[in-house]
Amino acid sequence: MQALILAGGKGTRLRPLTMHTPKPIVPIANQPFLLYQLELLKRADVRDVILSLSYQPHKIEEKLGDGSDYNVRISYAVEASPLGTAGAYRNAASLISKTTVVFNGDVLTDIDMNEVIRFHRERQAAATIVLTPVPNPTAYGLVETDKKDGRVCRFLEKPKPEEVTCDTINAGIYILEPRVLDYVPEGEPFMFEYGVFPQLLEREEPFFAYVWRGYWRDIGTASSYLAANLDVIGGRVKLLAPVASERGEKFDATAEIEAPSVVDPSSTLKAGVQIINSVVSRNCYVEERARIEDSVVRGGTRIGAGSTVRGAVIGKGCHIGRNVEIGDGSVLGDKSVVSDYSQTG
Ligand code: GDD
Ligand code: MG
Repeated sequence: MQALILAGGKGTRLRPLTMHTPKPIVPIANQPFLLYQLELLKRADVRDVILSLSYQPHKIEEKLGDGSDYNVRISYAVEASPLGTAGAYRNAASLISKTTVVFNGDVLTDIDMNEVIRFHRERQAAATIVLTPVPNPTAYGLVETDKKDGRVCRFLEKPKPEEVTCDTINAGIYILEPRVLDYVPEGEPFMFEYGVFPQLLEREEPFFAYVWRGYWRDIGTASSYLAANLDVIGGRVKLLAPVASERGEKFDATAEIEAPSVVDPSSTLKAGVQIINSVVSRNCYVEERARIEDSVVRGGTRIGAGSTVRGAVIGKGCHIGRNVEIGDGSVLGDKSVVSDYSQTG
């Protein structure tokens, strides 16, 4: 068993956070996102992992290296230009020799992959796809299944509202036998969603659906990215333990850090600071009486005295002045400068 993680998208819906950090390594609770997916794979003892990259590949390679720091073996398949989800799989063909777990590199879940692998083997499937129910399938791939035997009957990517016939969508997790590679043309853009899956159905390949009703989220929009951070610190995802939230030397004794917040100990918190249900990364500087609530603040950011940040994501190296109010839904790109007394959101 080996794994391929599709980690080459541009992350456009997560801009501006993905301008300088590719989506697969944006931090969730101060840890690069892909570490959560590697943990899922390790729990199923899948340790041979191919990362399929296209956008800012060097940043990802630099962060994860050969995987030895994380007890996995990582190899890389880099596309000169994006080949789409299935084109990326085909591009890695020389590295694929066994049954392969394929992940979209932006889904956060604590699914037990051992169960999915067992399900796949019992049915001798050519392909197994994990489905999950969502309230509105229009942003995803809708999947209809045969209620009797769990076979996939229909796959419809990004359905229009009037095309929605059920609530189960493609969770971006597949198990594929190597013969699925034959369904993908070489060297040209091709998608699982529009090309391979409809063809597997046409050829009546054994294509089965495993339905997961536990935690699942695509982190690919700013609101979902923020929610994923709060879910991890809130213990709603049973995966990596949140990084130890020891008190840093530069935390004033009167600075309050309310559980389950996570503040990197290299940061400075001045007198009267309040951190509530938030993640604060490395080397931030939070001045007197500033309050950060339900938010993510990335590394090297300064927040001035008396300012409030609520329901927001603040990029790296930002400079927020004094008495600023940053409100719900605000997303600031790296190095943003917000002058004193400004109000947003
Ligand atoms: N290597 C590579 N090359 N990776 C790619 C490429 C490419 O050309 N294009 C996309 N990816 C990666 C992205 O980095 C991401 O991890 C994954 O493939 C899925 O792409 P998204 O752009 O995030 O797709 P989506 O969220 O709109 O839809 C997909 O995921 C949904 C679940 O979150 C589809 O698979 C839907 O069917 C599914 O429901
Ligand atoms: Mg996505």
